[in-house]
Amino acid sequence: MVKSLSSIKGPIENELKIFDERFKDAMKSRVAMLDKVTNYIVKRKGKQVRPMFVFLCAKLAGGVTESSYNAASLVEMLHTATLVHDDVVDDAVERRGFFSVNALWKKKIAVLVGDYLLSRGLLLALDNEEYDALQILSRAVKAMSEGEMLQLEKARRLDIKEDVYYDIIKAKTASLIAAACSAGTASATQDTEMVEKMRIFGEKIGMAFQIRDDLFDFGTDDVGKPLGIDIKEKKMTLPLIYALENCSSGEKRKMINNIKRHNENPEKVAEVIDFVRKSGGLDYANKIMLKFREEAFEILHTTPDCPARDSLEQLVLFVTERKK
Ligand code: IPE
Ligand code: IPE
Ligand code: MG
Ligand code: MG
Repeated sequence: MVKSLSSIKGPIENELKIFDERFKDAMKSRVAMLDKVTNYIVKRKGKQVRPMFVFLCAKLAGGVTESSYNAASLVEMLHTATLVHDDVVDDAVERRGFFSVNALWKKKIAVLVGDYLLSRGLLLALDNEEYDALQILSRAVKAMSEGEMLQLEKARRLDIKEDVYYDIIKAKTASLIAAACSAGTASATQDTEMVEKMRIFGEKIGMAFQIRDDLFDFGTDDVGKPLGIDIKEKKMTLPLIYALENCSSGEKRKMINNIKRHNENPEKVAEVIDFVRKSGGLDYANKIMLKFREEAFEILHTTPDCPARDSLEQLVLFVTERKK
């Protein structure tokens, strides 16, 4: 049985409450315009799975410390910054069920707010002398930029194969969840082997996380962000890659043409989505997602059985079964 997110949050409720307050405070700015936008952002908080990974990994490794709080804020701050920028890059008007920052205030504002959040996050780590977390997270941000750029490059040529897709999602998404797990662990123990183990655990979950996210795009449920946008943005995700590898050359030519030249035409986009649905691409992506989940579980099960491990297990299940 998959538990709801709020029941998984139960055992770390106090930590998350303290985190919420600190996160909100860390965003404050004396510039009224920045304060207005960051206020809007904190009011529409996301699922907070990354801070949850930080706290649960810390618990598993010995216990939540002051550094765990700093790591959680840093991770969520960088996550928020990249989302604000990602919506500019993807031309997305909806985020977390509301207007995106670029939709409400235009791109110029979104670019600057993203920069502000990024620098606030890094400064938060520096001010608290959290050099380990700073190193872990700075590397993740570099990987994320590379991942988003690689994705853009591939969107232009529409020639991406499965291995490149994995490279992209490892860089743009798994790196940050891996960083959340390793920074969380590092905030509680000096055991570098354990830190590295949990980094790889996080990377596996991150892969599963992004595959789940990419599956949403082919669905019809309200997930709080635009649907069909990946095709519109010429983003080749796993279900589509599979579909194109397993169809006739005529069909492939037609679909590539739709994506390349008619990506602004909702009917042509719907045709591609329908083609992917009928190809078995969704089942295939689901299967791969579960493979990554299995690998994550295998790593997790080499750690001592304890309540924190149970919660991590629940959180992994949530990631692959979530509805938004
Ligand atoms: C969205 O992440 C970005 C991806 C990596 C797909 P989340 O789904 O964790 O976003 P929020 O914070 O809950 O809105
Ligand atoms: C993940 O990419 C976002 C980042 C890593 C910044 P997507 O573009 O797929 O994420 P969503 O769907 O907009 O949340
Ligand atoms: Mg996006
Ligand atoms: Mg997406």
